[in-house]
Amino acid sequence: MTDQAPAPYAGPQRVLSGVQPTGDLHLGNYLGALVKFVRLQHEVPTFIFVADLHAITEWQDPARLKDQVREITAAFLAVGLDPKLATIFPQSAVPEHAELAWVLNCVARIGWLDRMTQFKDKAGKHKERASVGLYAYPVLQAADILLYKATHVPVGEDQRQHLELTRDIAQKFNHDFAAPGFFPLPDALTQGPGARVMSLRDGSVKMSKSDPSDNSRINLTDDADAILQKVRKARTDAEVLPEKLEDLAGRAEAQNLVGIYAALSGQTAQQVLHEFAGQGFGAFKPKLADLAVAVMGPIGAEMRRLLADPAEIDRILADGAGRARAIAAPTMAEVRKIVGFWAG
Ligand code: ADP
Ligand code: TRP
Repeated sequence: MTDQAPAPYAGPQRVLSGVQPTGDLHLGNYLGALVKFVRLQHEVPTFIFVADLHAITEWQDPARLKDQVREITAAFLAVGLDPKLATIFPQSAVPEHAELAWVLNCVARIGWLDRMTQFKDKAGKHKERASVGLYAYPVLQAADILLYKATHVPVGEDQRQHLELTRDIAQKFNHDFAAPGFFPLPDALTQGPGARVMSLRDGSVKMSKSDPSDNSRINLTDDADAILQKVRKARTDAEVLPEKLEDLAGRAEAQNLVGIYAALSGQTAQQVLHEFAGQGFGAFKPKLADLAVAVMGPIGAEMRRLLADPAEIDRILADGAGRARAIAAPTMAEVRKIVGFWAG
């Protein structure tokens, strides 16, 4: 054995990301993930899917699941994903995701999964009662990414650890099966002021679908009134906004609201401070609320319009599934051959 560096991946660049159909999307999903999808679709072939296989790692009502997939798809379209540019599909329509996940389950090590913090957060105190699927969830995520040989994965900061794991799995597969450069080692695209949007009620926890307080988040489907109320009630402190970014240190809620303003207006947090330095939240919050209504209001309205015609959504998903399978099936055929399976 020599110690040479493994062959680099030489295939095309591809962007891929997924969102679970487990509840209403919120401002964190929008800024951390969706806006990046929209930008990237113009630059690189982009695959965006609704992760219904991931969703059932926790109980989902079978009678609701298809509608939940349609709702996420409507959100994708409403924020500006163009089904002619991006391939949009339901994960369960491409069975190769589950098939590759099995192979990768045999590559990933239990010690690697034991370190995943999202499992610890989601399983809570009674982890022996969580599904095996919830535990193996990050391996399925690696399969999603590697099935398309995706090179770039736009996600929020909370997904960084899963992307590190995906790189480890890809590297071990390439090495163990003597297939240098077969899978790329994908990069997480987590940059940007919206990479970690925090709860409006508590600046120390992330904005999340699963937070019991609806006031903690702005949903994509909230109307102008709801947005205004939530921003008005957002937790803050009594100080004015400083001139310099460093002086926001230790003020988690203030930092979060300035970050949201920056992300929504396409500015840096420093530029926002230049504009508002010396002003308190009594002045800043109405400006933030107006901006949030201007950006988010039309998205909710467009989602409602799209959901009134589910047949069109289903058509887009069926078309996307066909295009996704055209990439996924050859990769899986190669994997079967590499592993030595019967069916090629
Ligand atoms: P949730 O964590 O609310 O259940 P998902 O897991 O479905 O949402 O996340 C979908 C995408 O949105 C992922 O890329 C995730 O990293 C991103 N995301 C979720 N919450 C936030 C947040 N508070 N800030 C930034 N990005 C987020
Ligand atoms: N785990 C991601 C989340 O909770 C969703 C997801 C599933 C995903 N498969 C993916 C994201 C593949 C990026 C790439 O947000």
